[in-house]
Amino acid sequence: MRDDLDKILLGENQIQQRLDELAEELRVEYEHKDLTVVGVLTGSVMFIADLLKRLPIRLRLDYIGVSSYRGSTAPSGDLVLTKKLGLDVRDHDVLVVDDVFDTGATLGRIRRMIGELGPRSLKLCVFLEKEIPHAEDVPVDYVAFRIPNEFVVGYGLDYRERYRNLPYVATLRQEVIGEG
Ligand code: IMP
Ligand code: MG
Repeated sequence: MRDDLDKILLGENQIQQRLDELAEELRVEYEHKDLTVVGVLTGSVMFIADLLKRLPIRLRLDYIGVSSYRGSTAPSGDLVLTKKLGLDVRDHDVLVVDDVFDTGATLGRIRRMIGELGPRSLKLCVFLEKEIPHAEDVPVDYVAFRIPNEFVVGYGLDYRERYRNLPYVATLRQEVIGEG
């Protein structure tokens, strides 16, 4: 698997250290609120697990499933809902957690969908934000890392459903992406 990688962008220690800071910000914000964390499947699972271990406050956890990238590195445009929210979030403080804010299309849609369910507050938290002019004007409240506009894998992020289990974030070698 390592042979497929070009360079490591964010190392394991760097990620874990940043999560300490981010969790502290979230603790201050939510400790006296009624937090429901909504993870966006599947890319956010590693981020959520590491983040919530550091957040010793009362909270609920649910997941929403959407699929937008169909096995490639370019967006398909369509967003398919693959898992609905199970918990009632009306009057709760909702924090949506996702792996990456790329064009913003996915989080824009999710924000509107959850907003219609009547939460008391609604904020967004992403592991990565790409440094590009975003097509959608969606306010992202918490960002762990800002990265250049490159396709990355690891720490939950996939290329064709692979590499999610890497504990760091890396770019792929061109040959791997080019194999079609
Ligand atoms: P957006 O809607 O363009 O903001 O991106 C939506 C989804 O595309 C993310 O939730 C990821 O699943 C996927 N994605 C975007 N950039 C990357 C990347 O660099 N690596 C892996 N998946 C990505
Ligand atoms: Mg995703």
